[in-house]
Amino acid sequence: MTRIKFALCFATFTLILLDALIVKDPPYGQLKITGKYLTKLDGTPVQLRGISLFRTNTVRGHLFFANSTANIVKCYWNANVIRAPLGIDLPGNASANASLPGYLTSPEENYQRLKIIVESAIENGIYVIIDWHAFHMYTDQAVAFFTNISIAYGGYPHIIYETYNEPDSADTWEQLKSYHINVINAIRANDPDNVVVVGTPRADLDVEIAARDPINMTNIAYSLHYYTNEDPPLKMNKTNEAINMGLPIFVTESGVCNSHGNGTVNVNVTQACCIGILFFMTNHRIRMTTNMDNEKQVMAVKWIKTACARMVA
Ligand SMILES: *[C@@H]1O[C@H](CO)[C@@H](O)[C@H](O)[C@H]1NC(C)=O
Ligand SMILES: *[C@@H]1O[C@H](CO)[C@@H](O)[C@H](O)[C@H]1NC(C)=O
Ligand SMILES: *[C@@H]1O[C@H](CO)[C@@H](O)[C@H](O)[C@H]1NC(C)=O
Ligand SMILES: *[C@@H]1O[C@H](CO)[C@@H](O)[C@H](O)[C@H]1NC(C)=O
Ligand SMILES: *[C@@H]1O[C@H](CO)[C@@H](O)[C@H](O)[C@H]1NC(C)=O
Ligand SMILES: *[C@@H]1O[C@H](CO)[C@@H](O)[C@H](O)[C@H]1NC(C)=O
Ligand SMILES: *[C@@H]1O[C@H](CO)[C@@H](O)[C@H](O)[C@H]1NC(C)=O
Ligand SMILES: *[C@@H]1O[C@H](CO)[C@@H](O)[C@H](O)[C@H]1NC(C)=O
Repeated sequence: MTRIKFALCFATFTLILLDALIVKDPPYGQLKITGKYLTKLDGTPVQLRGISLFRTNTVRGHLFFANSTANIVKCYWNANVIRAPLGIDLPGNASANASLPGYLTSPEENYQRLKIIVESAIENGIYVIIDWHAFHMYTDQAVAFFTNISIAYGGYPHIIYETYNEPDSADTWEQLKSYHINVINAIRANDPDNVVVVGTPRADLDVEIAARDPINMTNIAYSLHYYTNEDPPLKMNKTNEAINMGLPIFVTESGVCNSHGNGTVNVNVTQACCIGILFFMTNHRIRMTTNMDNEKQVMAVKWIKTACARMVA
C-alpha cells in the first residue's frame, strides 16, 4: 500500500516536472540564417560549438542519452549546442553486437532517449540539434516524425532540425532536395522559423553540388561532415567552392580519426589538422559539433576543447 502510494506520488511528481519544463534561454536567442551565416535575429553571426552524441541505437551510444549529459557538455566542455542523433537504421557495416534496434523498428524506445536530451538541453539553455540519423531515405517516416517533434518542441528557440544525417551515395541532389522540401514543409506547418540543416550528397561531402542549386526557403543550412583522416584537401576545396557561392554550411559532425571511430589519432597530426580545421571553421564562422562515439574521439575532443578556448576566445 505504502509502496503503491509512493510510486503514484513519484509518477505524478515526474509528470509535473516534465510538463513544466524549466526553460533557460539559449545564448544567442532565436537563430536564423542570414546570407551564408548563422546569426542572431539582428543579423550578428554566431558560432555554435558542441558535441554530437553517438546515435540512440548503439550499445555504447545510448548510455549518453541521460539527464546529466546536456549539463556536462555545457558546463565542463564549454559547449553551446548538443546534437541528439535519433538512430533510424544501421550503416551498412555496423556490427550487429554493437547495435540496438533503431527508430524504424523500435520508435518509442529511441524517441524517449532523444526526448531526454532535447528537454535537458532546453532546461540548460543550450541549442539542440534533433538529428534524423538515417543512412537511407525514408520520406514518409521522416515527415511523420518531424511533424510530431515540431508540434512538441517547435516553440522553443533552442531547436535546430537536421533532416537526414548522411545521405546514401545513391541519392542524387534532385532526390534529396525534394525529400528535404517535404520534411521542411512538415516542420514549417508547426514551426515557422527554427533553423533546418539538410544533408548533402554522398554523406555530407558534396556541398558544392547543393550550392549550385540551393533550396529556395528561409533558415536552411547545409551539412558537411568533417573527419580529418578522410580526404581533407578535397573537403576543403568543396567547402571553399560552396562558401564562395554563398552556401550556409553547418558541420554537424567532425572528428580527428576516421568516421568509423577507428584509425590512428596521432597527437601531432591531430594538432595540425585541428588547428587547420578550427581556423578554417572559425574564419568562415562554420558551426561545428563533434562526434563523441568512442574513447579516442573523447580524448581528441578534450584536446579540441582547449584549442577552441584558446583560439575562439
Ligand atoms: C530523468 O529524469 C526523470 C525525472 O526526474 C526521470 O524520471 C528519468 O528516469 C531520468 N532519466 C534518466 C535516463 O536518467
Ligand atoms: C563500410 O562503410 C564505408 C563507409 O560508408 C564503406 O566505404 C565501406 O565500403 C563499407 N564496408 C562494407 C563491408 O560494407
Ligand atoms: C562484437 O563481437 C566480436 C566477436 O565476439 C568482438 O570481437 C567485438 O569486440 C564485439 N564488438 C563490440 C563493440 O562489442
Ligand atoms: C510523438 O510525440 C509523442 C510526444 O509528444 C511521443 O510520445 C511519441 O513517441 C511520438 N511518436 C513518434 C512516432 O515519434
Ligand atoms: C524563390 O522563391 C521566391 C518566393 O517564393 C520567388 O519569388 C523566387 O523567384 C524564387 N527564386 C528561385 C531562384 O527559384
Ligand atoms: C584542391 O584545389 C587545389 C587548387 O585549386 C588543387 O590544386 C587541388 O588539386 C585540389 N585538391 C583536391 C583533392 O581536389
Ligand atoms: C575503419 O573501419 C572501416 C569500417 O569497418 C574500414 O572500412 C576501414 O578500413 C577502417 N580503417 C582503418 C584505418 O582501420
Ligand atoms: C610530435 O611532435 C614533437 C614536438 O614537435 C616531436 O618531438 C615528436 O617527435 C613528434 N612525434 C611524432 C610521432 O611525430
